Amino acid sequence: MKILLFGKNGQVGWELQRSLAVLGSVVAVGKDTPGLAGDFSRPADLMETVLSVQPDVIVNAAAYTAVDKAEREPDLARTVNATAPAVLADAAQRLGAWLVHYSTDYVFDGSGQVPFAELDATGPLNVYGRTKLEGERQVQQINPRHLIFRTSWVYAARGGNFAKTMLRLAQERTELKVVDDQMGAPTGADLLADATAQAIRQVVAQPEGSARAGLYHLAAGGEASWFDYARLVLQQAQGRGCQLLVPPDDIQRVPSSAFPTEAQRPNNSRLDTRKFRQAFGLEMPEWQSGVRRMVEEIL
Ligand SMILES: NC(=O)c1ccc[n+]([C@@H]2O[C@H](COP(=O)([O-])OP(=O)(O)OC[C@H]3O[C@@H](n4cnc5c(N)ncnc54)[C@H](OP(=O)(O)O)[C@@H]3O)[C@@H](O)[C@H]2O)c1
Repeated sequence: MKILLFGKNGQVGWELQRSLAVLGSVVAVGKDTPGLAGDFSRPADLMETVLSVQPDVIVNAAAYTAVDKAEREPDLARTVNATAPAVLADAAQRLGAWLVHYSTDYVFDGSGQVPFAELDATGPLNVYGRTKLEGERQVQQINPRHLIFRTSWVYAARGGNFAKTMLRLAQERTELKVVDDQMGAPTGADLLADATAQAIRQVVAQPEGSARAGLYHLAAGGEASWFDYARLVLQQAQGRGCQLLVPPDDIQRVPSSAFPTEAQRPNNSRLDTRKFRQAFGLEMPEWQSGVRRMVEEIL
Protein backbone atom coordinates (compact mmCIF):
# COMPACT_ATOMS: atom_id res chain seq x y z
CA MET A 1 0.00 0.00 0.00
CA LYS A 2 1.31 3.46 -0.86
CA ILE A 3 0.17 6.26 1.42
CA LEU A 4 0.60 9.99 0.86
CA LEU A 5 0.38 11.91 4.13
CA PHE A 6 -0.17 15.67 4.21
CA GLY A 7 0.39 17.79 7.31
CA LYS A 8 3.15 15.51 8.62
CA ASN A 9 4.32 17.93 11.33
CA GLY A 10 1.01 18.59 13.08
CA GLN A 11 -0.06 16.78 16.25
CA VAL A 12 -1.96 14.09 14.35
CA GLY A 13 0.34 14.12 11.31
CA TRP A 14 3.36 13.37 13.46
CA GLU A 15 1.69 10.35 15.05
CA LEU A 16 0.42 9.18 11.67
CA GLN A 17 4.00 8.99 10.41
CA ARG A 18 4.46 6.31 13.09
CA SER A 19 1.14 4.49 12.88
CA LEU A 20 0.88 4.31 9.08
CA ALA A 21 4.38 2.92 8.64
CA VAL A 22 3.23 -0.67 9.26
CA LEU A 23 0.70 -0.47 6.42
CA GLY A 24 3.14 0.13 3.58
CA SER A 25 5.29 2.89 2.17
CA VAL A 26 4.50 6.37 3.45
CA VAL A 27 5.40 9.58 1.63
CA ALA A 28 5.04 12.30 4.25
CA VAL A 29 4.67 15.91 3.14
CA GLY A 30 4.66 19.15 5.13
CA LYS A 31 4.04 22.77 4.17
CA ASP A 32 7.53 23.19 2.76
CA THR A 33 8.85 19.73 1.89
CA PRO A 34 11.44 20.11 -0.90
CA GLY A 35 10.28 18.63 -4.21
CA LEU A 36 6.68 17.89 -3.18
CA ALA A 37 4.19 20.74 -2.90
CA GLY A 38 2.27 20.55 0.37
CA ASP A 39 1.21 24.14 1.01
CA PHE A 40 -2.57 24.14 1.33
CA SER A 41 -2.73 27.88 0.71
CA ARG A 42 -1.86 26.97 -2.90
CA PRO A 43 -4.38 24.18 -3.52
CA ALA A 44 -3.77 23.79 -7.24
CA ASP A 45 -0.18 22.66 -6.57
CA LEU A 46 -1.40 19.68 -4.53
CA MET A 47 -2.78 17.93 -7.60
CA GLU A 48 0.72 17.56 -9.06
CA THR A 49 2.01 16.09 -5.79
CA VAL A 50 -0.72 13.46 -5.72
CA LEU A 51 -0.37 12.57 -9.37
CA SER A 52 3.40 12.23 -9.07
CA VAL A 53 3.21 9.98 -5.96
CA GLN A 54 0.26 7.87 -7.23
CA PRO A 55 -0.89 6.78 -3.76
CA ASP A 56 -3.51 4.18 -2.88
CA VAL A 57 -4.49 6.30 0.10
CA ILE A 58 -4.18 10.03 0.81
CA VAL A 59 -4.30 11.00 4.47
CA ASN A 60 -4.88 14.68 5.14
CA ALA A 61 -3.80 15.83 8.59
CA ALA A 62 -3.13 19.43 7.49
CA ALA A 63 -5.61 22.10 8.52
CA TYR A 64 -5.91 25.72 9.51
CA THR A 65 -6.50 25.09 13.23
CA ALA A 66 -5.98 28.56 14.75
CA VAL A 67 -9.60 28.98 15.80
CA ASP A 68 -9.45 32.63 16.90
CA LYS A 69 -7.12 33.80 14.14
CA ALA A 70 -9.48 32.27 11.58
CA GLU A 71 -11.99 35.00 12.44
CA ARG A 72 -9.47 37.49 10.98
CA GLU A 73 -8.31 35.26 8.09
CA PRO A 74 -11.52 33.63 6.81
CA ASP A 75 -10.30 33.41 3.21
CA LEU A 76 -7.08 31.63 4.12
CA ALA A 77 -8.93 29.32 6.54
CA ARG A 78 -11.40 28.44 3.80
CA THR A 79 -8.65 27.80 1.25
CA VAL A 80 -6.78 25.46 3.62
CA ASN A 81 -9.80 23.74 5.19
CA ALA A 82 -12.15 23.46 2.20
CA THR A 83 -10.59 24.29 -1.17
CA ALA A 84 -7.42 22.23 -0.63
CA PRO A 85 -9.30 19.11 0.59
CA ALA A 86 -11.51 19.44 -2.49
CA VAL A 87 -8.41 19.27 -4.69
CA LEU A 88 -7.21 16.20 -2.79
CA ALA A 89 -10.61 14.57 -3.22
CA ASP A 90 -10.51 15.30 -6.95
CA ALA A 91 -7.00 13.87 -7.23
CA ALA A 92 -7.99 10.76 -5.24
CA GLN A 93 -11.07 10.28 -7.42
CA ARG A 94 -8.93 10.39 -10.58
CA LEU A 95 -6.61 7.71 -9.16
CA GLY A 96 -9.31 5.54 -7.56
CA ALA A 97 -7.59 6.23 -4.23
CA TRP A 98 -9.04 6.61 -0.75
CA LEU A 99 -8.99 9.95 1.02
CA VAL A 100 -8.82 10.07 4.80
CA HIS A 101 -9.66 13.48 6.21
CA TYR A 102 -10.21 14.96 9.69
CA SER A 103 -12.92 17.30 10.86
CA THR A 104 -14.14 18.67 14.14
CA ASP A 105 -16.87 18.87 16.76
CA TYR A 106 -16.90 22.62 15.92
CA VAL A 107 -19.22 21.83 12.98
CA PHE A 108 -21.97 21.69 15.65
CA ASP A 109 -23.57 24.55 17.55
CA GLY A 110 -22.80 22.97 20.92
CA SER A 111 -26.37 22.98 22.15
CA GLY A 112 -27.80 20.29 24.43
CA GLN A 113 -26.14 17.87 26.82
CA VAL A 114 -26.01 14.65 24.84
CA PRO A 115 -23.28 13.50 22.44
CA PHE A 116 -23.73 14.51 18.80
CA ALA A 117 -24.21 11.71 16.26
CA GLU A 118 -23.03 11.89 12.66
CA LEU A 119 -26.46 12.72 11.24
CA ASP A 120 -27.30 15.45 13.74
CA ALA A 121 -27.83 18.91 12.31
CA THR A 122 -24.68 21.00 12.03
CA GLY A 123 -24.49 24.69 12.89
CA PRO A 124 -20.95 25.98 13.27
CA LEU A 125 -20.46 28.98 15.54
CA ASN A 126 -17.22 30.26 14.04
CA VAL A 127 -15.17 30.57 10.84
CA TYR A 128 -13.02 27.53 11.65
CA GLY A 129 -16.12 25.33 12.09
CA ARG A 130 -17.76 26.67 8.93
CA THR A 131 -14.66 26.07 6.81
CA LYS A 132 -14.16 22.57 8.23
CA LEU A 133 -17.80 21.74 7.47
CA GLU A 134 -17.36 22.96 3.91
CA GLY A 135 -14.26 20.75 3.62
CA GLU A 136 -16.24 17.70 4.76
CA ARG A 137 -18.91 18.38 2.15
CA GLN A 138 -16.39 18.81 -0.64
CA VAL A 139 -14.75 15.49 0.19
CA GLN A 140 -18.12 13.71 0.44
CA GLN A 141 -19.34 15.07 -2.88
CA ILE A 142 -16.17 14.57 -4.90
CA ASN A 143 -14.79 11.19 -3.82
CA PRO A 144 -17.06 8.46 -2.43
CA ARG A 145 -13.99 6.54 -1.25
CA HIS A 146 -13.44 8.63 1.84
CA LEU A 147 -13.15 8.32 5.57
CA ILE A 148 -13.83 11.54 7.45
CA PHE A 149 -13.12 11.51 11.17
CA ARG A 150 -14.63 14.27 13.28
CA THR A 151 -12.69 14.55 16.48
CA SER A 152 -12.38 16.90 19.46
CA TRP A 153 -9.90 18.45 21.92
CA VAL A 154 -6.79 16.91 20.35
CA TYR A 155 -3.58 16.85 22.39
CA ALA A 156 -0.06 15.48 21.99
CA ALA A 157 2.95 15.49 24.31
CA ARG A 158 5.02 17.08 21.53
CA GLY A 159 4.76 20.87 21.20
CA GLY A 160 2.66 23.18 23.34
CA ASN A 161 -0.57 21.93 24.85
CA PHE A 162 -3.22 22.60 27.49
CA ALA A 163 -1.65 20.22 30.05
CA LYS A 164 1.73 21.95 29.83
CA THR A 165 0.06 25.33 30.27
CA MET A 166 -1.85 24.12 33.35
CA LEU A 167 1.31 22.64 34.87
CA ARG A 168 3.25 25.86 34.31
CA LEU A 169 0.49 28.07 35.70
CA ALA A 170 0.03 25.84 38.76
CA GLN A 171 3.75 26.22 39.48
CA GLU A 172 3.94 29.98 38.83
CA ARG A 173 0.69 31.32 40.25
CA THR A 174 -1.25 31.00 43.46
CA GLU A 175 -4.64 30.94 41.73
CA LEU A 176 -5.88 28.98 38.71
CA LYS A 177 -9.27 29.45 37.05
CA VAL A 178 -10.48 26.95 34.45
CA VAL A 179 -13.63 26.84 32.35
CA ASP A 180 -16.19 24.27 33.46
CA ASP A 181 -19.10 24.84 31.05
CA GLN A 182 -17.59 23.33 27.88
CA MET A 183 -17.78 19.54 27.71
CA GLY A 184 -15.86 17.22 25.39
CA ALA A 185 -13.36 14.39 25.37
CA PRO A 186 -9.62 15.13 25.35
CA THR A 187 -8.32 12.88 22.59
CA GLY A 188 -4.70 11.90 22.04
CA ALA A 189 -3.18 12.37 18.60
CA ASP A 190 -1.62 8.93 19.11
CA LEU A 191 -5.05 7.35 19.62
CA LEU A 192 -6.41 9.06 16.51
CA ALA A 193 -3.45 7.92 14.47
CA ASP A 194 -3.72 4.31 15.68
CA ALA A 195 -7.47 4.19 15.04
CA THR A 196 -6.93 5.70 11.59
CA ALA A 197 -4.39 3.04 10.66
CA GLN A 198 -6.74 0.28 11.83
CA ALA A 199 -9.60 1.74 9.82
CA ILE A 200 -7.51 2.15 6.68
CA ARG A 201 -6.39 -1.45 6.98
CA GLN A 202 -10.01 -2.55 7.10
CA VAL A 203 -11.27 -0.57 4.10
CA VAL A 204 -8.42 -0.53 1.60
CA ALA A 205 -7.93 -3.60 -0.53
CA GLN A 206 -11.00 -5.29 0.95
CA PRO A 207 -13.78 -6.02 -1.53
CA GLU A 208 -16.44 -4.93 0.94
CA GLY A 209 -14.35 -1.99 2.17
CA SER A 210 -16.32 0.64 0.26
CA ALA A 211 -19.39 -0.17 2.34
CA ARG A 212 -17.60 1.40 5.28
CA ALA A 213 -16.71 4.65 3.52
CA GLY A 214 -18.22 7.66 5.22
CA LEU A 215 -18.20 10.12 8.07
CA TYR A 216 -17.40 8.98 11.62
CA HIS A 217 -17.09 10.54 15.03
CA LEU A 218 -13.78 9.53 16.59
CA ALA A 219 -12.79 10.64 20.09
CA ALA A 220 -11.69 9.15 23.39
CA GLY A 221 -14.37 7.65 25.65
CA GLY A 222 -16.13 9.51 28.46
CA GLU A 223 -16.54 13.23 28.86
CA ALA A 224 -14.85 16.08 30.68
CA SER A 225 -14.90 19.82 31.12
CA TRP A 226 -11.66 21.79 30.79
CA PHE A 227 -11.80 21.98 34.60
CA ASP A 228 -11.93 18.15 34.90
CA TYR A 229 -9.09 17.90 32.40
CA ALA A 230 -6.91 20.40 34.30
CA ARG A 231 -7.63 18.69 37.61
CA LEU A 232 -6.54 15.29 36.31
CA VAL A 233 -3.34 16.81 34.92
CA LEU A 234 -2.48 18.36 38.29
CA GLN A 235 -3.46 15.22 40.21
CA GLN A 236 -1.14 13.18 38.06
CA ALA A 237 1.68 15.70 38.47
CA GLN A 238 1.18 15.91 42.23
CA GLY A 239 1.21 12.11 42.46
CA ARG A 240 4.63 12.21 40.80
CA GLY A 241 5.97 14.62 43.41
CA CYS A 242 5.61 17.87 41.44
CA GLN A 243 5.56 20.96 43.69
CA LEU A 244 2.44 22.93 42.83
CA LEU A 245 1.40 26.32 44.21
CA VAL A 246 -2.16 25.43 43.18
CA PRO A 247 -3.06 21.86 44.21
CA PRO A 248 -5.69 20.10 42.06
CA ASP A 249 -8.53 20.65 44.52
CA ASP A 250 -7.90 24.42 44.58
CA ILE A 251 -8.55 25.01 40.88
CA GLN A 252 -11.49 27.41 40.55
CA ARG A 253 -14.36 26.67 38.19
CA VAL A 254 -15.37 29.57 35.94
CA PRO A 255 -17.78 29.96 33.01
CA SER A 256 -16.41 30.50 29.46
CA SER A 257 -17.56 34.11 29.70
CA ALA A 258 -14.65 34.68 32.12
CA PHE A 259 -12.23 34.26 29.18
CA PRO A 260 -13.70 36.08 26.16
CA THR A 261 -12.25 34.88 22.85
CA GLU A 262 -12.59 36.14 19.28
CA ALA A 263 -14.27 32.94 18.13
CA GLN A 264 -17.30 31.59 19.92
CA ARG A 265 -16.85 27.98 21.03
CA PRO A 266 -19.50 25.29 21.47
CA ASN A 267 -20.44 24.31 25.03
CA ASN A 268 -21.29 20.75 24.06
CA SER A 269 -18.44 19.08 22.16
CA ARG A 270 -19.47 15.54 23.08
CA LEU A 271 -19.25 13.14 20.11
CA ASP A 272 -21.08 9.82 19.92
CA THR A 273 -18.52 7.32 18.58
CA ARG A 274 -20.86 4.32 18.33
CA LYS A 275 -20.87 4.26 14.53
CA PHE A 276 -17.06 4.09 14.36
CA ARG A 277 -16.78 1.45 17.07
CA GLN A 278 -19.40 -0.75 15.46
CA ALA A 279 -18.14 -0.36 11.89
CA PHE A 280 -14.53 -1.15 12.74
CA GLY A 281 -14.88 -3.36 15.83
CA LEU A 282 -12.69 -1.06 17.91
CA GLU A 283 -12.92 0.37 21.43
CA MET A 284 -12.23 3.96 22.33
CA PRO A 285 -10.41 4.08 25.70
CA GLU A 286 -11.55 6.56 28.36
CA TRP A 287 -9.94 10.00 28.01
CA GLN A 288 -8.22 9.74 31.41
CA SER A 289 -5.85 6.95 30.35
CA GLY A 290 -4.36 8.94 27.47
CA VAL A 291 -4.10 12.14 29.49
CA ARG A 292 -2.26 10.33 32.31
CA ARG A 293 0.22 8.90 29.82
CA MET A 294 0.74 12.29 28.24
CA VAL A 295 1.44 13.92 31.62
CA GLU A 296 3.95 11.15 32.38
CA GLU A 297 5.69 11.91 29.10
CA ILE A 298 5.76 15.64 29.80
CA LEU A 299 7.18 15.12 33.28
N1 LIG B 1 -6.42 20.33 17.61
C1 LIG B 1 -7.67 20.06 17.97
O1 LIG B 1 -8.07 20.23 19.12
C2 LIG B 1 -8.64 19.50 16.94
C3 LIG B 1 -9.97 19.29 17.35
C4 LIG B 1 -10.86 18.77 16.43
C5 LIG B 1 -10.43 18.45 15.15
N2 LIG B 1 -9.15 18.68 14.78
C6 LIG B 1 -8.76 18.36 13.40
O2 LIG B 1 -7.79 17.33 13.45
C7 LIG B 1 -6.88 17.48 12.35
C8 LIG B 1 -5.46 17.48 12.87
O3 LIG B 1 -5.30 18.58 13.74
P1 LIG B 1 -4.02 18.78 14.67
O4 LIG B 1 -4.49 18.87 16.06
O5 LIG B 1 -2.97 17.78 14.32
O6 LIG B 1 -3.60 20.24 14.19
P2 LIG B 1 -2.19 20.94 14.22
O7 LIG B 1 -1.30 20.33 15.23
O8 LIG B 1 -2.49 22.41 14.28
O9 LIG B 1 -1.61 20.56 12.82
C9 LIG B 1 -2.09 21.11 11.63
C10 LIG B 1 -1.03 20.94 10.58
O10 LIG B 1 -1.52 21.62 9.41
C11 LIG B 1 -0.46 22.35 8.90
N3 LIG B 1 -0.88 23.48 8.10
C12 LIG B 1 -1.44 24.64 8.49
N4 LIG B 1 -1.58 25.46 7.43
C13 LIG B 1 -1.07 24.80 6.38
C14 LIG B 1 -0.90 25.11 5.02
N5 LIG B 1 -1.25 26.29 4.51
N6 LIG B 1 -0.34 24.18 4.21
C15 LIG B 1 0.06 22.99 4.69
N7 LIG B 1 -0.06 22.64 5.97
C16 LIG B 1 -0.63 23.54 6.80
C17 LIG B 1 0.33 22.84 10.10
O11 LIG B 1 1.62 23.19 9.68
P3 LIG B 1 2.38 24.41 10.40
O12 LIG B 1 2.38 24.11 11.85
O13 LIG B 1 3.72 24.40 9.75
O14 LIG B 1 1.58 25.63 10.06
C18 LIG B 1 0.30 21.59 10.97
O15 LIG B 1 1.37 20.73 10.61
C19 LIG B 1 -7.31 18.75 11.64
O16 LIG B 1 -8.13 18.43 10.56
C20 LIG B 1 -8.11 19.52 12.67
O17 LIG B 1 -9.06 20.37 12.07
C21 LIG B 1 -8.24 19.18 15.66
